[in-house]
Amino acid sequence: MEKIEQTIKNYEDVDSWKTIMFLYTSAIKTVEMKLEILNDEFQHVHQYNPIEHIKTRVKTPESIVKKLRKYEKEISVENMVKYVNDIAGVRLICSFTSDIYRLANMIASQTDLKIIEIKDYNKSPKDSGYKSYHMLVSVPVYLSDGMVDTKVEIQIRTIAMDFWASLEHKIYYKFEGNAPAHISRELRECADMVSTLDEKMLSLNEEILACSREQER
Ligand code: GTP
Ligand code: MG
Repeated sequence: MEKIEQTIKNYEDVDSWKTIMFLYTSAIKTVEMKLEILNDEFQHVHQYNPIEHIKTRVKTPESIVKKLRKYEKEISVENMVKYVNDIAGVRLICSFTSDIYRLANMIASQTDLKIIEIKDYNKSPKDSGYKSYHMLVSVPVYLSDGMVDTKVEIQIRTIAMDFWASLEHKIYYKFEGNAPAHISRELRECADMVSTLDEKMLSLNEEILACSREQER
């Protein structure tokens, strides 16, 4: 198997940047297709879709450079592949917190996909109130001359968590990370409300499912 670092060297003369971005775009496609299959299979077997929707994005060159600067690394294609783990990003939005772990387990059991790191900000939220489940994985991308393992960051969160994170992100950017104290406080309050909402929605859903099972008997 060829390491991505090697690929860069091989293509350095041609156009390493374009090649690398092509790899990340292809890695996203691979992961997205795997997830769609898992979701369809789940629908087929359990008449239920754990994935509400999927969002994907490739990091912009500006953000990649910004991150390398933050990490105090020289700006090079090699460093970006080595240190920037979220160039390829896939976000899975689900209805219930139970779906998060259902999806994480389904992803973990894909044998050709390697899990590099897991950060469970659902169990341990950030100080900001941020909740989400992050998996850094690598997927094989098959090219005409071989296979390249490529990193993809998968974020799994509920609709409510996603709603919160979108607004918090917008505010964070607006104030460049220094939001007025009352805004940060209210955001944390909203995060608590999101958690309460997620818990209530989950228990309601479980009650409904139990009723349906009862009726089927
Ligand atoms: P970066 O934060 O990306 O430099 O790397 P890291 O190693 O700290 O990774 P982490 O898993 O903490 O965060 C990765 C991604 O999660 C970010 O790029 C965001 O998309 C998201 N994220 C993390 N923390 C927050 C947060 O407090 N608010 C919001 N809205 N998103 C967050
Ligand atoms: Mg971070």
